[in-house]
Amino acid sequence: ARPNRLALRGPTLTFRADPFEAGDAAAMHYETDGLTLVENGRITGFGSYDRLRARLDGHELKHYGDALILPGFIDMHAHYPQLQMMGAYGKQLLDWLNQYTFEVEQQFGDAAHARRVSDFFLDQCLRAGTTTASVYCTVHPASVDAFFDAAQARNMRMIAGKVLMDRNAPGALCDDARSAYDESEALIRKWHGRGRLSYAITPRFAPSCTPAQLEAAGALWKRYPGTHLQTHISENRHEVDWVRRLFPEHAHYLDVYRHYGLTGPRSVFGHAVHLAEPEWRHLTESGSAIAHCPTSNTFLGSGLFDYQRAFQRPGAVRVGLGSDIGAGTSLSMLQTMGAAYKVAQLGDYSLSAPRAFYLATRGAARALCLDEHIGSIAPGMEADLVVLNLASTPLIEFRMRHCRGIEEALFIQMTMADDRATLAVYIAGEPAYEAAA
Ligand code: GUN
Ligand code: ZN
Repeated sequence: ARPNRLALRGPTLTFRADPFEAGDAAAMHYETDGLTLVENGRITGFGSYDRLRARLDGHELKHYGDALILPGFIDMHAHYPQLQMMGAYGKQLLDWLNQYTFEVEQQFGDAAHARRVSDFFLDQCLRAGTTTASVYCTVHPASVDAFFDAAQARNMRMIAGKVLMDRNAPGALCDDARSAYDESEALIRKWHGRGRLSYAITPRFAPSCTPAQLEAAGALWKRYPGTHLQTHISENRHEVDWVRRLFPEHAHYLDVYRHYGLTGPRSVFGHAVHLAEPEWRHLTESGSAIAHCPTSNTFLGSGLFDYQRAFQRPGAVRVGLGSDIGAGTSLSMLQTMGAAYKVAQLGDYSLSAPRAFYLATRGAARALCLDEHIGSIAPGMEADLVVLNLASTPLIEFRMRHCRGIEEALFIQMTMADDRATLAVYIAGEPAYEAAA
């Protein structure tokens, strides 16, 4: 077959370093008239149009004159089964879980329902410019099969796993230590490394897992070290108190996970709002990552993520952004970045636009240990790309007329734009979404 060659021309932004470390200007690579060359799903060249135009031969050229081409967004924390209960009124975490979440998740033993919601979730991700996500399914193995089937059909790089929970939830949603291990192992063998899919061992959080189940999760991760591990930590003060009562022998919440071998590279801890200094230190030293979920933290009244501490040097922790659908209020990473800025403001920390975009692209890829595959535009990287319309509403168009540069343009987008800004999305070099004309 003739190799698939594609070239995207237009203003293009990527990161070649960590702006929290190198500074924004040194970390950004912005081409006002850029060219990205793609062959067989991978990027083969990136630079200025003038420098690379000689290599255009044989490529199908797409010209996005005044748009902005970026690496596809990465959502580090989402629950696809919770789409149907977004915007559930009036509760904080523990009541919200009991009253809304556990009710809805019981429907995902039905494979057909799980597939319909998976398809809808992934299409909405594409519409928002999100090309990779780390996703919680439910306790039912069928919910994982449905999700991976749907992701494979779109050739999206997705991470997902079966939720492990064997206490403090309705019986219909509980597995046990043995079945959690066996069912997860069968899913790992079936899906991990198949196409672009990766498995995440997914103990829900310490209060819903017995020590025996956490031990099983640790044993499984040790047996399959290339898989990811995702869970929640210190989202809500009542949750933190509960963990102290459930695990009195542990010094703090993270120590529970550490004890069972659940920290280290490829682990992702959702929220991390109420951490003590020894927990921060262990996250740094173990190479664990945090998924910061600002729209969720404000919606559930959980608290304010500590930007000062998270990015303190030395001692910075790997961080990316998560929508945390359905406690989060938007699948759009632009909206999530805007919320991140506001949460940071309340902690007297100014999150620059380049840093926010980094956290939703290359920073998240690094936190997930996937930065050799996704998160930036460079030769060898998989061609998951999003093209943003920088004037997606009349108000944004008006505002952009008074904009004086790329950093301001980025900040306007994260403050004012949403999925209406997505002009096109490419998955491994193939068109996967295009806005209606
Ligand atoms: N902690 C344990 N489970 C959940 C969940 O489904 N959503 C959120 N936001 N926090 C959790
Ligand atoms: Zn969550």
